[in-house]
Amino acid sequence: MHTRIKEYIESHGERFLSELFDLIRIPSVSAQPARRDDVLKAAEYVRARLEEIGAETELLPTDGFPLVYGKIEVSATAPTVVVYGHYDVQPAEPFELWQTPPFEPVLRDGKIYARGANDDKGQMYMQIKAVETLVRLGALPCNVKFLIEGEEEIGSASLDAAIKKYADRYAGDVMLISDTSIIHLNTPSLTVSLRGLAYVEVELTGPCRDLHSGHYGGAVENPCNVLCSMIHSLRDENYRITIPGFYDDVYELTAEERAKLAERPFDRTEYLRNLDMADTRGESGYSILEQASIRPSLDVNGIWGGYTGEGSKTVLPSKASAKISMRLVPHQRHDDIAEKFKKHFEAIAPPSMKVKTTTHHGGNPFMTPTDSTGYRAAAAALKECLGKEPIPTREGGSIPILALFNEVLNMPIVLMGFGYDTDGIHGPNEHYGLDNFFRGIESIAMFYHKYAELSKA
Ligand code: BES
Ligand code: ZN
Repeated sequence: MHTRIKEYIESHGERFLSELFDLIRIPSVSAQPARRDDVLKAAEYVRARLEEIGAETELLPTDGFPLVYGKIEVSATAPTVVVYGHYDVQPAEPFELWQTPPFEPVLRDGKIYARGANDDKGQMYMQIKAVETLVRLGALPCNVKFLIEGEEEIGSASLDAAIKKYADRYAGDVMLISDTSIIHLNTPSLTVSLRGLAYVEVELTGPCRDLHSGHYGGAVENPCNVLCSMIHSLRDENYRITIPGFYDDVYELTAEERAKLAERPFDRTEYLRNLDMADTRGESGYSILEQASIRPSLDVNGIWGGYTGEGSKTVLPSKASAKISMRLVPHQRHDDIAEKFKKHFEAIAPPSMKVKTTTHHGGNPFMTPTDSTGYRAAAAALKECLGKEPIPTREGGSIPILALFNEVLNMPIVLMGFGYDTDGIHGPNEHYGLDNFFRGIESIAMFYHKYAELSKA
């Protein structure tokens, strides 16, 4: 079977790629209202490709962008795999940092360069092509349902309600997702935890209008200066977050769990080289890998106020703002953390400032077991296709809806991603290796066989 799968992928690979390129050319940026029609177009494109491979399809309406539903039933007794992915992408701005335009995919050095090449169009499309491969070979051993959404990159707001509504349709035995990383094709891994996210926006107002910084500077507090000190104070000298109660629910890994994590190969020099930085710094007492996966973090994602145009303008601004994200770990809860942030931020503001805080989307941290049939099937598929037993990894990114899937859909979730952390997702020149794409399709196709076998046992 493995050989036939490889042969099918080999002989249809060019078409797989050109279909993916067509999908990438649709700039489905869910965050930008001007791209609305494109987001809908991407949904329809995915639906049509599912229909082509023999799925019964539908666009399920939500309060926002539709869910692409697809179903292929092979038998009433076969296990059902539910595939989740997303057809929306992050904004590509700033365009000038791209070597080639973000929505015109190109192949360079064996990689696809484009927004969505990895996250998640490239990865999601592997799932569809793996199922095509099995369908065409007459060798699909499981029923499959597709749940491809269009709001992942804006926090899956509408999916919250929709998933409860459509829970029956999505009944299944295991959920399979390609939207995370692999250490390397030579060092296969399966993701077992993701961080959650709380996202807040803050605005400080000082004087009721912009002032001449000569007339007033030194006497009147400047919201930009104040915002910087307030943000600075959110972490102490050990880079621990100072918001009261922030660590209350943080799960501290056991020494054994930490030792297991440390087995993952990590090259600090290569890490720094890739970032073009001389050093890193994070919470004291934890390794770089730990800081970016099992420990919470707080980052300014954007900060503005005053004059930022060309040349200089002497102004003491009236307002200053920042967008701040906090990545969360088990068992923190995003609504609790956003609330704690808000209370603290208001408490530390000097009396001269008016504070406004707004909470954006959030999601809870996510963990998945390594003893489920799904996990074992994925491990067996990677072992067979990539030659080594995969290492369980904890990752720092978020897929906010997964915690809710765990509560509502009641099936183990398998995170079988094939992207590299260095693929530049969300940034300029996002790329995805051709090898990752094709080996991914092969491994996913094998997953179905391993899963069907292990389910019988
Ligand atoms: N695919 C990523 C998440 C990811 C990438 C997890 C690599 C692990 C490894 C996903 O599409 C994403 O970017 N999520 C956002 C969620 C946010 C917009 C609510 C994130 O993590 O920033
Ligand atoms: Zn993604």
